[in-house]
Amino acid sequence: MEKSAVPPVAPEDWVARSLRAVWHPCTQMKHHERLPLIPVARGQGAWLFDRAGHRYLDAISSWWVNLFGHANPRINAALKDQLDTLEHTMLAGCTHEPAVELAERLHALTGNTLGHAFFASDGASAVEIALKMSFHSWRNRGYADKQEFVCIANSYHGETIGALGVTDVALFKDAYDPLIRHAHVVASPDARLAQAGETAADVARRALDNVRALFEARANRIAALIVEPLVQCAAGMAMHDASFVAGLRALCDQYGVHLIADEIAVGCGRTGTFFACEQAGVWPDFLCLSKGISGGYLPLSIVLSRDEIFATFYHDDTARGFLHSHSYTGNPLACRAALATLDLFTSDDVLAANARKSATLAAALAPLAEHAHVRNLRQRGTIFAFDAMIDDPEQAKTFSRRFFDNALQRELLLRPIGTTVYLMPPYILDDEELALLAARTRDTFGATLAEAR
Ligand SMILES: Cc1ncc(COP(=O)(O)O)c(C=O)c1O
Repeated sequence: MEKSAVPPVAPEDWVARSLRAVWHPCTQMKHHERLPLIPVARGQGAWLFDRAGHRYLDAISSWWVNLFGHANPRINAALKDQLDTLEHTMLAGCTHEPAVELAERLHALTGNTLGHAFFASDGASAVEIALKMSFHSWRNRGYADKQEFVCIANSYHGETIGALGVTDVALFKDAYDPLIRHAHVVASPDARLAQAGETAADVARRALDNVRALFEARANRIAALIVEPLVQCAAGMAMHDASFVAGLRALCDQYGVHLIADEIAVGCGRTGTFFACEQAGVWPDFLCLSKGISGGYLPLSIVLSRDEIFATFYHDDTARGFLHSHSYTGNPLACRAALATLDLFTSDDVLAANARKSATLAAALAPLAEHAHVRNLRQRGTIFAFDAMIDDPEQAKTFSRRFFDNALQRELLLRPIGTTVYLMPPYILDDEELALLAARTRDTFGATLAEAR
């Protein structure tokens, strides 16, 4: 086949070079013919700076990972020290201080309930590990028939083939459907489903009835149920009552099913407590962490599990051990970044400070609730969201991209999920930045609606 002539690209044109050489995630690359791609040159605090010196407030924490700002001096110092000490070693047959200390500190943070930490590098892998561990633990106990999983309607747990099996977002799943081993999908506890006179707790109760009916019929075949406690983030920041998570724990105990809490997005203080499960007053059998745990610095994920689960693998027979590995399992730099992140939580009393900042941001966003095109202005901890009411389906389809573009023009990095606008800022915004974020979010919304008219 004859090659068409490719026009040359200037060496300093990083955007054009990126669009030729880099396959960007979760992206229809053709949309970048019109959509701007930000050539990020550096980050400082809550701000990203492009190569021309324009700044953007990272109001979604770079896909929910960056808790304490870019180039955080304390995380940087810890990493520089670790770099000169030990950058990496395998974790099979070896161990090192950052991995041990991190496992011990997370154990303590779960009220000494989840005593064993298994390390991986990304959220989807953590989910797959929890699913495999659950199945294998049941098999080791003589329940080899427990091979099925349950997820909640609209859940998102990652995009590898196994994680897609417990994900219920059509956009990510449909194209790969023939490859997927599907989980049971139970009713959503999304508080927005409340009918007249119902509370969020009523919606949760209805959803739990659905889980009970499934367990009644099939619990002997079901290994685990997986849930994003309190907020289904990728579903469009769908929030539910904490009683749903407590109810799941009770049903899992009653019917002999493992409970997996995917705290990849909602852990590390996002919902107001360090772990979202704390607000339900329960602990799962497996808890998946990633994203914010390394402060947004390095790929790291962790599956915490109960000692009873660990005990089911402890045996002379290798095949009864948990058979899973990643080359970078427990990378010392990533673990050290996580330790520095945990240090910041204690030294700066972050959860209390976040409560104050979130109250300020909530007050500044409150006028949106009166807007004729806004529904369901909601908040959980440091997550804020509202649904834009766009009548024209064509305008609704392009809302997210147009909002993103309008936000950039106002120095904000915001990417709505469909027609849901959300903020998930880093924990370090000062009063001025909080006010700027709220005012420009409102302004961006107004400008995006005005285009539609
Ligand atoms: C709740 C939840 N689980 C799993 C994942 C997957 O994590 P990763 O993108 O690191 O694979 C995400 C990512 O957004 C998530 O929000």
